[in-house]
Amino acid sequence: MQDTHSRFSAPAHHGVPFNKKAIREKQSLWFQLPLLQRILISNLLIISCSAIIGSWFTAQLAEAGSFNVVTFVIIICCATLLSGSISFFTLKSAFRPFHELQRVLTKIHAGYPRAHVALSRINDPDVREFTGALRQMLVRLEDNARVIQEDQHQLQIMTARVITAQENERKRIARELHDEASQSLTAIIMGLDAARRQARDEQQETRLGSLRDMATATLDELRKLALDLRPTMLDDLGLVPAVRWLSRGAGERANFEVKLELDRIGDTDRLPPELETCLFRITQESLTNIIKHAQATRVDIRMSRLLNDNIKLEIRDNGKGFNMSEARHKAICGGHLGLFDIEERAGLLGGKASIMSGDSGTTIQIVVPLKPHGCPF
Ligand SMILES: Nc1ncnc2c1ncn2[C@@H]1O[C@H](COP(=O)(O)OP(=O)(O)O)[C@@H](O)[C@H]1O
Ligand SMILES: [Mg+2]
Repeated sequence: MQDTHSRFSAPAHHGVPFNKKAIREKQSLWFQLPLLQRILISNLLIISCSAIIGSWFTAQLAEAGSFNVVTFVIIICCATLLSGSISFFTLKSAFRPFHELQRVLTKIHAGYPRAHVALSRINDPDVREFTGALRQMLVRLEDNARVIQEDQHQLQIMTARVITAQENERKRIARELHDEASQSLTAIIMGLDAARRQARDEQQETRLGSLRDMATATLDELRKLALDLRPTMLDDLGLVPAVRWLSRGAGERANFEVKLELDRIGDTDRLPPELETCLFRITQESLTNIIKHAQATRVDIRMSRLLNDNIKLEIRDNGKGFNMSEARHKAICGGHLGLFDIEERAGLLGGKASIMSGDSGTTIQIVVPLKPHGCPF
């Protein structure tokens, strides 16, 4: 099964704890020296210490007449231990800026963008140029990320406006079809009925009868079109009856079994209008996809109110499934935007869409908050 999520969460924005050691290092003369000089001084220190202490000790032992193989081995061991310890501590301190750099980079990699502030505290002349360039690069990246975030927000607002305008327009056309065109057609049908009753001969009656049938078929088509555009029951009765009507129609049209299950949601419960529209359109697109592509024999729709007051909608079919990256490619090439629309609608309400598909079918799962925060609608 492949899975896609419409939104991914970025790591939280954290600073780096104030580093006293780094400040002390900034002021210390030792850390202002280039690395080569620090290593050279460390080595000179080790060699001189070993030479002075070793010679002094040997001289003392020789004077006391106790210089033999055993004391020689002890001197060698002590000298090795001493020079090893001195070289460990001096080299450790010489390489500290690199360890500090590594620590900062690990933090940046772990998703703490403000960690680059700590780079300015590394005052080592060998790494200063490098950290300077790195800092500039990270600041630029941070600026770019902020611009992208603002653009994304603007895009979200625009998408929400387009969706709202589209829904309003659908509502207007559906109402006009229902109120104006349907009324006129009904009047025409009644007129044709009356004319047929007063027909002079059989031929005229048959012609008026077929005209009436055509007008009746057109009226049916018109009503179906108005319902597809925006079923009045979504506004009048709410999401559950509208989804029930939608799924029954889809099952009858494509000959598959549909089961609608409700959990902690009642048939008459009303949700915020934008949420009802969003979940209705997602169900409509999912069912259209199942009819068009899935070759399924069974569809399960489950709508539940979760304990955290989120609404979860799951539409599962047992069809042939599809390849997610191919579907993404189709969307990029244009025209096939149904799945993208599902993700976008869920995201705009602060929710998340998961689309999973495999050989045993497709599952579309939407989780949206019941009371969307900062909803751009
Ligand atoms: N339930 C499904 N079962 C099988 N294939 C599907 C299903 N839903 C979507 N698809 C595949 O994903 C593609 C993209 O779907 P969509 O974005 O809705 O565009 P469209 O329906 O216009 O092709 C479809 O062309 C189809 O190949
Ligand atoms: Mg589609």
